[in-house]
Parts: sequence; C-alpha cells; structure tokens
Amino acid sequence: MDSPFRADVLKGKVALLTGGGSGIGLEITTQFGRHGALVAIMGRRRHVLDSAVSALRSQGVSAIGIEGDVRKKEDAIRAVEETVKHFGKLDILVNAAAGNFLASAEDLSPNGFRTVLDIDSVGTFTMCHAALKYLKQGGPGRDSSSGGLILNISATLHYTATWYQIHVSAAKAAVDSITRSLALEWGTDYDIRVNGVAPGPIEDTPGISKLSPEEAQSKMKEYMPLFKLGEKWDIAMAALYLASNAGKYVNGTTMIVDGGLWLSHPRH
Ligand code: HXC
Repeated sequence: MDSPFRADVLKGKVALLTGGGSGIGLEITTQFGRHGALVAIMGRRRHVLDSAVSALRSQGVSAIGIEGDVRKKEDAIRAVEETVKHFGKLDILVNAAAGNFLASAEDLSPNGFRTVLDIDSVGTFTMCHAALKYLKQGGPGRDSSSGGLILNISATLHYTATWYQIHVSAAKAAVDSITRSLALEWGTDYDIRVNGVAPGPIEDTPGISKLSPEEAQSKMKEYMPLFKLGEKWDIAMAALYLASNAGKYVNGTTMIVDGGLWLSHPRH
C-alpha cells in the first residue's frame, strides 16, 4: 500500500530496530528505510537477518544485520556500537523484539514468566540504556540542539486481562511504564522523545498465528469495531508518524493501533 508520508520524512536518520528482521518489526524497518532512514536490525537468528537485509537492499534501503540477544547487555552495547560505527550516529531506537507463547498461569513455570519479562521488559530497558549516550543531544555524531527517539512496541493485552498471557501482559505493562519514565527523565535531561505503539491483532504476524487460531480470529471479528484485523502497515505508519517531525511534541504516550478492539465486548 502507498504511504501517505513524503519519501524523505526520515531522510538521513539512523535507526536500530530490535526484532527488525521479521513480523511487525520488519515492516517498520522497511517503511523507515523507504522513507529515507539507514537501518540496522538486531535479532538472534542469522538467517532471518540475512534474508531481511537482502530484501531491504533490493528495495534500495541501506541496511545491516547484527546478531544479538536483547537479554545480553554486551550484545546490546555491541549492537548500538556497530550501528554507530557503520552509519556514524544513532537517531532512533525501536524495541520490537518480543517473546511469546500461550500458557495458563497454572502451567507456566516461573522461568517461563521470567523469560518473557527478560526479553520484553528488561531487554527494552537494556537497549535504551545502551543507546542513551548516542541518542542524547550532543552525543557522538549528533548536534547539540536535539536528542533522538525511542519507540517501544507494546500490546493491549494488559489493559484488561487476557487469557493465557499473564507473562506477556506483565511484560508489556512494564514496557509502557518504562516508556513513561524515560519520556520524563530523558525528555527533560536530553531532549529524547520516548513513545510506544500498541498493536491489536495484526494479520500475518507470528503473534497472531501463535496466539489466535483461525476460528478464534473469525469469532473475534464479530465484535471488532472496525470488523477486521490490522495490517503490519498500520503499525508502521503509526511508528513513522511518531518518529518523524510530525510527532515532535508527542512524548511518553503509547499509541493504540487496534481499530478500537480493546474497548469492545461481545454483543449479548
Ligand atoms: C509454556 C514455555 C513455552 C510454552 C517456553 N516456555 N515455551 N512454557 N509453554 N510454549 C518456558 C520453558 O519451559 C522455560 O521454562 C522458559 O519458558 C524458557 O524457555 P526456553 O525455550 O529456554 O527460552 P528461549 O529459547 O529463550 O525462547 C524464548 C521464547 C520463545 C519466548 C520461549 O518462544 C521465543 O523466543 N519465541 C520467538 C519470539 C516470538 O514469539 N515472537 C512473537 C512475539 S508476538 P522452564 O521452567 O521449563 O525452564 C508478541 C505479540 C503480543 O509479542 C501481543 C499479541 C496480540
């Protein structure tokens, strides 16, 4: 689908995206690249990175892949440093890496719970922490007038409660809280904007295929206000708005992009 944004809205910006090689993360990477950004994607699987990088390059996007796990502090630091070494600076960090599976609270081991918090919540903080010195105004490669941007990919699961998602709900609640705290502290101290995007059910993603079998999806459509699943494109356009200058006064918010689903209940 065509973009409503000008092709140069992110011209010359350097973005590092965790989980940027697949699913929603890859669509954000692709749209950022198509709108002028130079992109580095970080992920655990080399083959996923390689195929994403070649797809991006074939569209004329400057892209590199960096193997790493957001749960490891040394990987986070190395990913940020490799990005800056390759592209000269860092303007945008997108935290899109996430882990997920369905498990009832009774069957979920504490280690399973911890694993998802380690990836989604601690991983997000670890990446932000590693990126700070490059994102702050006057940081290496930046001028002293403006700081960079952080975008955290969240969810809507924790606005109420979601079956078999106690671990992800807790993890994404923490992510939203991190978004607000960093927006306050780093917005004030370093002119860094920190925002989030909370996708609803998005078609063709690992999230929807893992978590919601097809029967559940068609049932869900019966009470969705817009009566359809979202597209990865919808999330990427929200990310593009927040990352571009159009969003320059938006800080500390998590934009819900779910067609209004979180507000709704089945009709009876
Ligand atoms: C119950 C499970 C489990 C499962 C793992 N565990 N899978 N428990 N059901 N299906 C438990 C294990 O038993 C173990 O606990 C602990 O979790 C760690 O498991 P490992 O396999 O060692 O972890 P790891 O190899 O690091 O794998 C991480 C993972 C994995 C999260 C478990 O699924 C993963 O990385 N998936 C790929 C990423 C992904 O799914 N992305 C899509 C995100 S979608 P014990 O106690 O046995 O040691 C998304 C959307 C949310 O986030 C919103 C949707 C609407």
